[in-house]
Amino acid sequence: MNPLDATKSGFLACIAVCLFIYTFIYLKDTLSEEPNEQKFDENIVECGFYPDELCSALFVGKTAAFKIGNFCQSTYQPKTLSCVQTSCNCSMVLKTLHFITRPLSDEEGNFSLAYIITIHKELEMFVKLLRAIYMPQNIYCIHVDEKSPQDYKAAVQNIVNCFENIFISSKRENVVYAGFSRLQADINCMRDLVHSKIQWNYVINLCGQDYPIKTNKDIIQYIKSKWNGKNMTPGVVQPLHMKHRTQVSYREYVHSGMSYVYPTKNIKAKPPYNLTIYFGSAYYILTKEFVEFTLTDARAKDLLEWSRDTYSPDEHYWVTLNRLNDAPGATPNADWEGNIRAIKWKDQDGTIHKGCKGHYIRDICVYGLGDLQWIIESPHLFANKFEPATYPLVMDCLERRYRLKVLLQAEVPIEDHWRFQEANYFNMKLNV
Ligand SMILES: *[C@@H]1O[C@H](CO)[C@@H](O)[C@H](O)[C@H]1NC(C)=O
Ligand SMILES: *[C@@H]1O[C@H](CO)[C@@H](O)[C@H](O)[C@H]1NC(C)=O
Ligand SMILES: *[C@@H]1O[C@H](CO)[C@@H](O)[C@H](O)[C@H]1NC(C)=O
Repeated sequence: MNPLDATKSGFLACIAVCLFIYTFIYLKDTLSEEPNEQKFDENIVECGFYPDELCSALFVGKTAAFKIGNFCQSTYQPKTLSCVQTSCNCSMVLKTLHFITRPLSDEEGNFSLAYIITIHKELEMFVKLLRAIYMPQNIYCIHVDEKSPQDYKAAVQNIVNCFENIFISSKRENVVYAGFSRLQADINCMRDLVHSKIQWNYVINLCGQDYPIKTNKDIIQYIKSKWNGKNMTPGVVQPLHMKHRTQVSYREYVHSGMSYVYPTKNIKAKPPYNLTIYFGSAYYILTKEFVEFTLTDARAKDLLEWSRDTYSPDEHYWVTLNRLNDAPGATPNADWEGNIRAIKWKDQDGTIHKGCKGHYIRDICVYGLGDLQWIIESPHLFANKFEPATYPLVMDCLERRYRLKVLLQAEVPIEDHWRFQEANYFNMKLNV
């Protein structure tokens, strides 16, 4: 059978099974006379009961799958995660949220990653991200925005309390988009991380709308093979059209419910130590030695002070320091290389990528179903940006595929609660 026929017959099988179950539930519900429950079950039957098959078709870009998927998504009510809105004891948190509880190989057990995750909303997305990247040998610093609601903070704390290697940043910022507070939030976590008893090799920063494409093992192997001992800070010497960011003084405006950064008329002094300012990604992967350097070196500290009133300093700070010849693990001649983040930028629409199938927010694509194939074929380690409230099936498909991939690579016996798919009738195709 050729692959197309296989997929087609898979689909037919799926539809047949769905119809059967639909009939079954319809009859059952007619008898039990529960109209609300019936509506809910219909949704599950149509779209959520056998999502592996639909996801597989989406991942290989089948046109029919988008039509079904988009139809589903408009009525789809994804299962809410247990232990997120309601409180559970820790053994329930670990089990029902499917956290992986042992290192999956020697190689991973001996190479530990530190994560900085800055979040302010969308609790479920945070939990989905956390349970994807969580490994017991790693360490996680969560920066919860100071302005987040109290019940949000409490819910994060409840989950974090179940893990010795996850903690909330000891100092929290009111984060303003493009402001210094965004950089300060990462630095707060770094201070906590370097003082932790848990050893780590590299630190990676994430925000609440990121999701991994590569597994923990893939990430480690990518770092070791391409960057052994070096830092990844994609970026170039500050181009002319970015000069305004550091030429005049900017201020953060924070007022009830509103915050932004605005330029003043004050011209800034030249950078300290005559440093050449670079421009790059706010996303990095850094060695522990480099992090210690940025927290103690006089140039790093002066650059930080100088950056306080600049626009989006997280996009120049790390890359500028990592281009110094004598910084630990520096890459003075690097450019944009380093596959840290897959992002569909609006200004690359039609050139680097073939458009955003979800929608753009601040010139960045929020992925829709039609972006799934592009995401999983990307060489990057993580992707941004996701909004499960708008495109729930996107996250469901990625999560299910990702966990299957992780477990497929495991070199230790797999525990039952690590699996998402309770009954795996269809195996999601993982050959891409
Ligand atoms: C945790 O909660 C579950 C269900 O509520 C219960 O069965 C279990 O005994 C509890 N475990 C502990 C360690 O308290
Ligand atoms: C990991 O460490 C253990 C014990 O320290 C050692 O036996 C093992 O060979 C190491 N594995 C790798 C892949 O380095
Ligand atoms: C500052 O750096 C520039 C080039 O980066 C160089 O031309 C200039 O001489 C330097 N100035 C001082 C005072 O070191």
